[in-house]
Amino acid sequence: MEVMRAAAEREALGDPVYHLEVGQPGSTAPKGVIQAAKDALDNHRLGYTVALGIPELRAAIADHYAREYGVSVPQDRIVVTTGSSGGFLLSFLAAFDQGDKVALVAPGYPCYRHILTALGIKPVIIETTKEDRYQPSPALLEKAQAEHGKIDGLIVASPSNPTGTMLSKEDMAALAEYCGQSGIRLISDEIYQGISYGRGFETVLSHADHAVVVNSFSKYFSMTGWRLGWLVLPEDLLRPVECLAQNLFISPPTLSQVAAVAAFDCREELESNVARYAANRDLLLRELPQSGFGDLAPSDGAFYLYADVGHMTNDSLSFCSRILKETGAAVTPGLDFDEARGHRTMRFSFSGTTEEIAAAAAALKDWRP
Ligand SMILES: Cc1ncc(COP(=O)(O)O)c(C=O)c1O
Repeated sequence: MEVMRAAAEREALGDPVYHLEVGQPGSTAPKGVIQAAKDALDNHRLGYTVALGIPELRAAIADHYAREYGVSVPQDRIVVTTGSSGGFLLSFLAAFDQGDKVALVAPGYPCYRHILTALGIKPVIIETTKEDRYQPSPALLEKAQAEHGKIDGLIVASPSNPTGTMLSKEDMAALAEYCGQSGIRLISDEIYQGISYGRGFETVLSHADHAVVVNSFSKYFSMTGWRLGWLVLPEDLLRPVECLAQNLFISPPTLSQVAAVAAFDCREELESNVARYAANRDLLLRELPQSGFGDLAPSDGAFYLYADVGHMTNDSLSFCSRILKETGAAVTPGLDFDEARGHRTMRFSFSGTTEEIAAAAAALKDWRP
């Protein structure tokens, strides 16, 4: 947020800013979704819906699993939520009790640990390395349990934010099996699914129906501000989540729900967004090492590159501030993603236009710390 504030101040002065700090698509919602929203504004009452979401959207999501992953998910296990953020709140509340321990990796998306802490659930941080591909494994979980005692849950994200790394099919299966055998509730954040480079898509549902899946229209579907996501739940969490959703949210946003049904028919436009991310990623992978940012996480998906800049700084916050001031490139220091080691890392987002990413790379080329 500090980088974004500094970037906005710079823009207000008329200086150029290249936005490599953003965590959202540079594109709008697909045309079909926008048209469906316009039709709904004209013709729909847009009152509350049932708490679990409109049946048409739940059915479209179930179809999506059958078509894209060959997995049969009954519609009544799908719950539409207010972004995946709403899904985290609902599933954490339903799955865990105060004092429970939930493991998650660093570097990782900071809101997981913030939401857990706000609910009185204890985050157990597993520090991962490039050798682990920044992903958890049964061995790392075993070690965490030896150190912290019985772990009640695990949050995993593939592709991950901020590293973009993915779990292979085998690794995902091994993790799901370990969690099933050890009584660890597995929560799989699949929000960046659909955005990957050369790797197939994988859902934990292919391996375990005891897992909780959290997903969203914010990234692949390019509908960030529409605040819509979904959960796929195991049977035992359905009723608790329904009760919580009714009381906390009444229903997810109706206009977004009605329009999102069309999102699954907008493949061509959505795939052209992914092609743009792929071109931007290639460009940065080519250019960044020449500017000293060569120690990158092996990113297979999402729209991020995570760099170790320990050879250039021990203070990523002021390092990123200087980069912004001296080149106009807004980039994110690693501190939020990894409290212990983020002082030596940073994240580049390549979700913008290719012109913007190319301009940022050119500005970084001659810059030296
Ligand atoms: C890994 C991850 N999960 C979840 C979210 C939250 O997304 P939303 O609430 O828009 O679905 C984000 C947002 O950047 C994210 O990076």
